[in-house]
Amino acid sequence: MCGIIGFTGGRNAVPVLIDGLKALEYRGYDSAGIAIAGEKITTVKSVGRISSLEKKLEAAPVVGCCGIGHTRWATHGCPTEGNCHPHMSADGKFAVVHNGIIENDKELRALIREAGIEPKSDTDSEVVAHLLSLDYDGDPVEALCRTVSRLKGSFALGVLCADRPDEIYAAKMRSPLLIGYGDGTCLSSDGTAMPRDINEITVLADGQTARLTKDGATVYFRGKQVGCERIKPTVSGRAASLSGYPHFMLKEMYEQPEAIARTISTECRGKRTGLKGTGLTLIGCGSSYNAALSCRPLLERATGRSVEVALAGEFLYSERVPAYGKQCVLLSQSGETADTIAAAEEAARRGYGTLAITNVHASTLTRTCDDYLCTRAGPEISVATTKGFTTQVAALGLLAGSEFASAVRELPGLAEKALQASEGLKNTAGYFDGGCVFFMGRGADYGAALEGALKLKEISYIPAIGIAAGELKHGSISLIEKGTPVIAICTDDRLIGKSLLSIATVKTRGGYVIGVTSSPEIAAACDEAIMLPPVHPMLSAAVSVIPLQRLAYEVALGLGRDIDKPRNLAKSVTVE
Ligand code: AGP
Repeated sequence: MCGIIGFTGGRNAVPVLIDGLKALEYRGYDSAGIAIAGEKITTVKSVGRISSLEKKLEAAPVVGCCGIGHTRWATHGCPTEGNCHPHMSADGKFAVVHNGIIENDKELRALIREAGIEPKSDTDSEVVAHLLSLDYDGDPVEALCRTVSRLKGSFALGVLCADRPDEIYAAKMRSPLLIGYGDGTCLSSDGTAMPRDINEITVLADGQTARLTKDGATVYFRGKQVGCERIKPTVSGRAASLSGYPHFMLKEMYEQPEAIARTISTECRGKRTGLKGTGLTLIGCGSSYNAALSCRPLLERATGRSVEVALAGEFLYSERVPAYGKQCVLLSQSGETADTIAAAEEAARRGYGTLAITNVHASTLTRTCDDYLCTRAGPEISVATTKGFTTQVAALGLLAGSEFASAVRELPGLAEKALQASEGLKNTAGYFDGGCVFFMGRGADYGAALEGALKLKEISYIPAIGIAAGELKHGSISLIEKGTPVIAICTDDRLIGKSLLSIATVKTRGGYVIGVTSSPEIAAACDEAIMLPPVHPMLSAAVSVIPLQRLAYEVALGLGRDIDKPRNLAKSVTVE
């Protein structure tokens, strides 16, 4: 949710930090700040977007070859300058940026108060800076080891020490942190924020601390130096650019045919990947859950068994029924969603074999699970996922096995056609007056309906309900009145009769029905329709969701919303 960048090298660190923060801005964008080492540590902070931080730096430039920066998504404390990172220790010796949650913040605040230090912010992060100065006796690595041993919760830390103005210190526990090597040494919570010249990275493991100099890094575990494996980065630094599109969301929508094609042809998977075991549970959050749900019929057909689909946050607190011999597939575009990672750990405790489906190879989820299958969507910058969803459906199609291979191979071409059909949705904002919008479907179309509603809510802020078409009459139909927009998704010819009935029920109450379908019969029954190419009904969400994404985009555009960075949201939700 928040983002960390650090740089030490033979050039001014400030532009590197600002460019890195811009690349990280999609992860959190309430406030941002940097700290630059020198005779003393200088911090510059600003509420709002990176552009306001840049303005401050233009007005009062700061220069230095070593620094850290942070972009924040507020959890503890409002987005104010006081709560913005980097936080300084009271003696000015340490500056700290932090991602994660310090769970024993209250106890630690009491401890530093006993030492006569009064915290200035409402954050759980500030305490780390004060602890470092209390634990310091001349060696910053030792101080960091002592301090992290006091912390409970999750953290990725970047630290400057005024006594060593060329060095950055780092620590990691359940929150991602990478070291990058190129012309200088870089620290970041996300590979996409590293400068382009970074050609090797080290993925820090839980419990490790590190010292970064301009020539490289030394990694420690429990105070002892350990080996530090360098690997080639899977995403090139700052690869993502708008390439002429007005928004990343639109660009990423158009990248879907290629992203699906890459996912199904360039396999990036562990050694044992496949469906196995005596039972199957699919787990995810948000769109990843919706992708899983849309593929339940597919996987039930493939395994011949009923398949459970669970929200990660709910699975964690469900009954701890032993599941030895069963398999759990955890879906996460980012591979860093805290609920999903906790669910993977919980699944392993219950005895499930765990398989990650994620878009980020070097992610916490791939390391947490027994095995992995990577989608190859490329970096996804828009907070609202598009290609993340469709490549997950394609990956589940791969898992379903040879019976579906030809249908899976058709997906890129069908996605292309759905993109063309969606062009008809330009300038459709006029349909919506802010009242509730319904998305309904059955089977795979129900997963797509949930995803369509989520897309509209998150970027347009219009209330939207995704509903199983058969459920409408059990209560929600009371909300349908003259003009209520209802998006009816129907891609399964076996369900045409039932779908016609649902559409008629809505129209009788005055609802305005927009069909998303490959059936001319359904289209004729709707007020208007987006025609999809015929698609396998169990993989159809990878295609039917595309007009729904476009609809949400056009509505949000018409309302003047901040499409790539909608309010209150963050790209990857790294707190439970
Ligand atoms: C999708 O548009 C959302 N931004 C959100 O629901 C997202 O899918 C969810 O937070 C899960 O993220 P993940 O796939 O990275 O785990």
